[in-house]
Amino acid sequence: DKGGYSHFMLKEINEQGAVVRSSLKGRIEGGRVDLSDELQWTAETVASWRSLHIVACGTSYYASLVAERALSRWTDLDVRVDIASEYRHRTVRTDAKTLAVFVSQSGETADTIAAQRVARGLGAHCLAITNVRGSTLAREVHDTLLLKAGPEIGVAATKTFMGQMSVLYLLALYLGRLRGGITAAEESRLVEELNQLPYKVEATVAREESLSELARIYAERRDFLFLGRGYSFPVALEGALKLKEISYVHAEGYAAGEMKHGPIALLDEKVPVITVIPRDSLYEKTLSNILEAKARKSPIIALGTDGDDLLKSYADHIITVPWTDEAFTPFLTVIPLQLFAYHVAKRRGCDIDKPRNLAKSVTVE
Ligand code: F6R
Repeated sequence: DKGGYSHFMLKEINEQGAVVRSSLKGRIEGGRVDLSDELQWTAETVASWRSLHIVACGTSYYASLVAERALSRWTDLDVRVDIASEYRHRTVRTDAKTLAVFVSQSGETADTIAAQRVARGLGAHCLAITNVRGSTLAREVHDTLLLKAGPEIGVAATKTFMGQMSVLYLLALYLGRLRGGITAAEESRLVEELNQLPYKVEATVAREESLSELARIYAERRDFLFLGRGYSFPVALEGALKLKEISYVHAEGYAAGEMKHGPIALLDEKVPVITVIPRDSLYEKTLSNILEAKARKSPIIALGTDGDDLLKSYADHIITVPWTDEAFTPFLTVIPLQLFAYHVAKRRGCDIDKPRNLAKSVTVE
């Protein structure tokens, strides 16, 4: 049941505020993150970890890349993120001092399951973050944290990306507290902001009209470049993936600082550049990348923060999201990119909920 929406994807985009809310429910106690009901970790076990490996595919990998930044900041663990099909074959420093986290919406992705078996065999403590209780992955790991996003029907992952980021952030704040990587004041400030997120997500989804308008202008372009730095780099990757998979338009996501190392050669007036540029600590640097793209005559679409008037003199189109702490910006900035991909695909007459060549769970290697 599409609940009155024209596609499951649009319905699921609209459910994202509720997904963040249900991910947080019962996991925040007295202003602090508490996952002890779901994770029966002893203080000894938690203290024994040196590194944290996160392993996933596709959109789940991008959610992991977002969380890597928060985990590196709020915990003292050595954090790395790998694509499952690579992790399982490389010589990994995975051992009993490793907490290995496997992020998979379906819990049935062949490479993620295989990677878990490798890590487990090397002695790692394995945690699954999945939307499906009783999935193969969930049955094999030591611990599971559920997304509580409800079933996702659209092949393109949207609300489960939101759910994965929510749960990974809860894990980051919980580990930060248990291992003493974060001060109590910082923790309560972040938890407060986390509690505000469902409202800000809803406010952002409600701005759909401006993305439909943007899609009207750009739906016939052949190539797009998506740029971002820091927390916004994985958002750029995810924005490009959404556009590729549902509208079959070529799009590349790049770290903004890497543009001059190659992809800038692609730019001209035919290639729009979508820059994810919230008001954060890297803002000025990303602005300089916008100027570089502008000098090549690329149409500039800036995805920034409400009230950022400076962007007007840099960009041809400005889309904004409400302010949030730098660490939480991906929860908001990804939404206009999902909506943009949706509206481009719709204009191009694509089969949005069932894109060609793709399956909801990838059970082959
Ligand atoms: C993209 C998409 C895929 C999945 C990937 C992993 O919209 O849906 O890239 O994210 O196949 O799937 P899970 O999370 O089920 O392991």
